[in-house]
Amino acid sequence: MASYDVIVIGGGPGGYVCAIRAAQLGLSTACVEGRETLGGTCLNVGCIPSKALLHSSHLYHEATHNFSKMGLSTEGVSIDWQTMLAYKDSTISANTAGIEFLFKKNKVDWIKGWGRIVGPGEVKVGDAVHGAGSIVIATGSDAASLPGITIDEKSVVTSTGALELESIPDRMTVIGAGVIGLELGSVYCRLGSKVNVLEYLDAITPGMDGEVAKVLKRLLGRQGLKFQLGVEVQSVTAEDGAQKVSYRSRKSGREQSCKADVVLVATGRRPYTVDLGLEDAGIATSPGGQIVTDEKLRTNVPGIYAIGDVVAGPMLAHKAEDEGMAVAENIAGRKGHVSHDIIPGVIYTHPEVAAVGRTEEQLKQDKRPYKVGKFPFLGNARAKSIFAADGFVKLLADAASDRILGCHIIGPSASDMIQEISVAMEFGAAAEDIALTCHAHPTYSEAVREAALACGDGAIHA
Ligand code: NAI
Repeated sequence: MASYDVIVIGGGPGGYVCAIRAAQLGLSTACVEGRETLGGTCLNVGCIPSKALLHSSHLYHEATHNFSKMGLSTEGVSIDWQTMLAYKDSTISANTAGIEFLFKKNKVDWIKGWGRIVGPGEVKVGDAVHGAGSIVIATGSDAASLPGITIDEKSVVTSTGALELESIPDRMTVIGAGVIGLELGSVYCRLGSKVNVLEYLDAITPGMDGEVAKVLKRLLGRQGLKFQLGVEVQSVTAEDGAQKVSYRSRKSGREQSCKADVVLVATGRRPYTVDLGLEDAGIATSPGGQIVTDEKLRTNVPGIYAIGDVVAGPMLAHKAEDEGMAVAENIAGRKGHVSHDIIPGVIYTHPEVAAVGRTEEQLKQDKRPYKVGKFPFLGNARAKSIFAADGFVKLLADAASDRILGCHIIGPSASDMIQEISVAMEFGAAAEDIALTCHAHPTYSEAVREAALACGDGAIHA
């Protein structure tokens, strides 16, 4: 029986990062992964392929909407769907091959197959049992469907099927106006599908700052996405060569239906722990199926840790990565730490949405006195010059101490700009610290500084 200091089960962003860090810290490490390639959901069927399609569909949209305004002739721009899919696949393989290389470089053994915990410090993969001083569960999540809906990944799809449709559908119905629904709904809307989004709640993107959610809905509506909020989907059935989606208004109870060629079910994800041996090992789980961990990501069974989507918190690749690194550090006897209050979230629509820290709604609930500094991209020269002046930056700071409590951006490159505030929050910075920092001109990030100025004596360009 081969024995390791650490066996990580799952080769997604949480698992592979944990394995690499553990090996870097001198621990003999193996990572168990049953997929053909490393990288988990994020690299194979999630973040990376969706970003490729968001990029190509955005360029198509720009070419057909904005190029001529800039003096670029766009006659004959067309979509070659198979090539677009091949481009998307090439971005996947470039990244998954990169992780294999990093495993070799850092001397992490990839044990190919599905792992099951069969005893204290024992992981079975196929017929072989491997010993481990510590086990890290990083098995991620899978799409949660709804009763009354059968997924075939062709006409009724999760995000996985939506990334490899045979053709661009004429009509797509998206169930759920969360991150996946809006990102993939945007892709197909830009490529010409008629997309309607059915959402259970009365607002899109639950948990997001209310003002941002409202503006995002308006801007996506302008791009062609149709929303029906406050409706509960009952069933999806095949009828006359199409999919009939039946739903009911939560307020009035009125039953309605619509038809689509493809239905995307984007109603959340659930922890993936199938056949992992949790029960036999005595590992505690929550009623929602999450593995219960303490602040050091230890399960109730000594020597077994869990990280990423399979434990509490937002299901985000970067949160899983941070937890992976922290656990590796702790196993190596260091002091690993994750700032769970400062995990940014991004929606890669156009414009992008990014947030970190508390929302206004949460601060009201906390009864914490706060001030708001807001700055619209309309006052930002760089954004205006590329027809991207929709949206704003909103900075929230403590009313008395000026300490930054949260930031919410809807606008160009929001995903990159939010990092400035994440770093500032890690250092306990005040809005004034951002306001007093020189920002290059012309950049979108000047809007962040202006929002910080607006927390004090006022923005300059508003
Ligand atoms: P989500 O939790 O973001 O949104 C699901 C939506 O479906 C909610 O708005 C919910 O109210 C709605 N819903 C639930 N039942 C419904 C019903 N019967 N009828 C109509 N609407 C219903 O989940 P989503 O979009 O599936 O994403 C799953 C996870 O993946 C999330 O945790 C997300 O953070 C993560 N993810 C993150 C990305 C990013 O960081 N850019 C990209 C894609 C996924």
